[in-house]
Amino acid sequence: MSRELIVSKIKSGTVIDHIPAGRALAVLRILGITGKEGVRIALVMNVESKKLGKKDIIKIEDRELTPEEVNIISAVAPTATINIIEDFRVVKKFKVTPPEVIRGKFKCRNPTCITNAPREPVEPTFYLVRREPPLFICAYCGRYHELSDLI
Ligand code: CTP
Ligand code: ZN
Repeated sequence: MSRELIVSKIKSGTVIDHIPAGRALAVLRILGITGKEGVRIALVMNVESKKLGKKDIIKIEDRELTPEEVNIISAVAPTATINIIEDFRVVKKFKVTPPEVIRGKFKCRNPTCITNAPREPVEPTFYLVRREPPLFICAYCGRYHELSDLI
C-alpha cells in the first residue's frame, strides 16, 4: 500500500488513523503533543483513503493513548480510529466518540461568559447534551455549542 512506503509500521505505540485530510496538526495541538516528549512521531498528510478520499495519519511510538485522552479529538477528527500497537500488531482498535465533559481545551463563544472574563481563573467546561450530532452546553452560561463552534 502506498502509504506504507511513506511511513513504516511501528513496533509499539498509538496510530491515529482516518483523520480528515489536513487536520493532523490540529489533532496534535488538541492532544498537547509538541514533539518535545522525545518519542518518535510520524505525521502523514493527504494520503489516499478508501473511506475518506484523503486522510491524515499520526503514529506516536511507545505511548498508549487512552479513550479518555483521545476522545477530545473528535472535535476536529470525528472519523478518527485509534489503533494501539504492541509488537507490531494492532491489539486494540476503537473509534473516537465525543466526551461527556470537556474541560479547559476550548473557549466559550459567549463573550460575556465568566470563563472569558479577564483574571477569572474559571476553566471553561462543556457538557455533552446530545450525541448525534454532538451538542455541548457551557457549564457556566448555558450557551449551546456544536463541535464546529468549539474548534
Ligand atoms: N499500523 C502501524 N504499525 C503497525 C500496525 C499497524 O503503523 N505495526 C498502522 C497501519 O499502517 C494503519 C493502522 O495502523 O494505518 C491500522 O492498521 P490495520 O488495522 O492493520 O489497518 P486497516 O485494517 O487498514 O485499518 P482499518 O480497518 O481501521 O482501516
Ligand atoms: Zn459560557
